[in-house]
Amino acid sequence: MRDYFKKIPETIQQLIGPRPYYIDDIGMSSSQVICFDDMILKIQECCEESENELRMIKWLQRKLPVPRILHEERADNTQFLLMSRILGQMSCDESYMDRESVLIELLAQGLKMLWSVDITDCPYSNSLEQKLRQARGRVEQGLCDMENVQEDTYGENGFRDPSDLLSWLETHKPQEDLVLAHGDYCLPNVFLQDDKISGFIDLGRCGIADRYQDIALCYRSLLNNYQGAYGGKAYSAFHPERLFEALEIKPDWEKVRYYILLDELF
Ligand SMILES: Nc1ncnc2c1ncn2[C@@H]1O[C@H](COP(=O)(O)OP(=O)(O)O)[C@@H](O)[C@H]1O
Ligand SMILES: [Mg+2]
Repeated sequence: MRDYFKKIPETIQQLIGPRPYYIDDIGMSSSQVICFDDMILKIQECCEESENELRMIKWLQRKLPVPRILHEERADNTQFLLMSRILGQMSCDESYMDRESVLIELLAQGLKMLWSVDITDCPYSNSLEQKLRQARGRVEQGLCDMENVQEDTYGENGFRDPSDLLSWLETHKPQEDLVLAHGDYCLPNVFLQDDKISGFIDLGRCGIADRYQDIALCYRSLLNNYQGAYGGKAYSAFHPERLFEALEIKPDWEKVRYYILLDELF
């Protein structure tokens, strides 16, 4: 198995040393994540997201609980990011899923922490204009998956194909209410420990965006995880809409739908 390590740059190999490890296959992206006791090595193809992940982790140091960068290196169009390991569990861990109101309260707290960050000098914008530009590129290159999507996105009661969805998104842009958005605020990307937020990870899409970018994906992630969509336990009763009570805001269902649909193209 150590063969896997052959392509890892020498400096990183030395930092890792003989530590035991396991491979994490939770993420939906094409990245590879190797977990050590105290550090994580994320290997991904160099792209706008991998660059942004590094940039945003740096910018968020001392602003929010995010990993520390231990070493970063690029070789053969691949980014190797060695970072500290966030303690605790992913928020989709059963110990939290089994306590829905605690989980929702914590996820809402996490959102409020993100929104409290001053975005004046935030180095990246993921506003609609930017997201739709990226989405257009992806549609044109045929990169949009029609399989890993919500059930009703495409088909009889949905859109014909990614291009049809993109046209709808371009003509139905909602007014933006800009905050610091995580960009992929789903349960595996929010870590909890002792009933507190212990960290945010997977920050490649983090930047300035509408508040509903994160609200919508959090809502969808609660829904999918409670339905057992990723092979976990399926719950018979769950109430993701309680997220809005915890956030003390009136839900804007149009925006929830819009941002979930937008994410289908990524
Ligand atoms: N710094 C970290 N601390 C703890 N766990 C991590 C860290 N980075 C990644 N992981 C683990 O690896 C998984 C996948 O990493 P992530 O950065 O979310 O990649 P992906 O883009 O594939 O979702 C996470 O859900 C988490 O379980
Ligand atoms: Mg992730």
